[in-house]
Amino acid sequence: MISKKLEKAVNEQIQKETYSAYLYLSMAAYFAAQNLDGFANWFYVQNQEETYHAMKLHRYLIERGGEVELMAIEKPPKNFESPLKAFQAALEHERFISKSIHELVDKATEEGDHPLVSFLKWYVDEQVEEEASAEKIIAQLELIEGYKPGLYHLDKELAARVYTPPAEEEE
Ligand code: FEO
Repeated sequence: MISKKLEKAVNEQIQKETYSAYLYLSMAAYFAAQNLDGFANWFYVQNQEETYHAMKLHRYLIERGGEVELMAIEKPPKNFESPLKAFQAALEHERFISKSIHELVDKATEEGDHPLVSFLKWYVDEQVEEEASAEKIIAQLELIEGYKPGLYHLDKELAARVYTPPAEEEE
């Protein structure tokens, strides 16, 4: 059974992942309002991924005999100034999430909760991918520097992103 201290920390991480889903939903709406449907699609997919991240923790906490306590979700920003600024904000947020996951691993390690440390490895690896994909799009947007045909081309590319549930979800 998970300790009360770690139960609280996991519930806080569930809240952060749920906020991430909410933030990316707001970013998707921001792009959709500008008819940048490919960018919007990328963030709608991101929203689904974040919901999965929250649910994976949610189910794990129950499996470990912990109690899920859903917390209030803050209102996300609505205006992001430019596609580049939106992705920079997404990257900054992902770095915050990575830090939070690492702190959770540290807490689980301090308590000797090996199952939780092992479970969190998936999130540690996932964060590397999360940061890398935002960094890549930022680099592409910096190359484009507001050149509209480039933005149009990138929008088409991002329209191809499809949400793929991790293997365990396909059973
Ligand atoms: Fe769930 Fe994008 O971190």
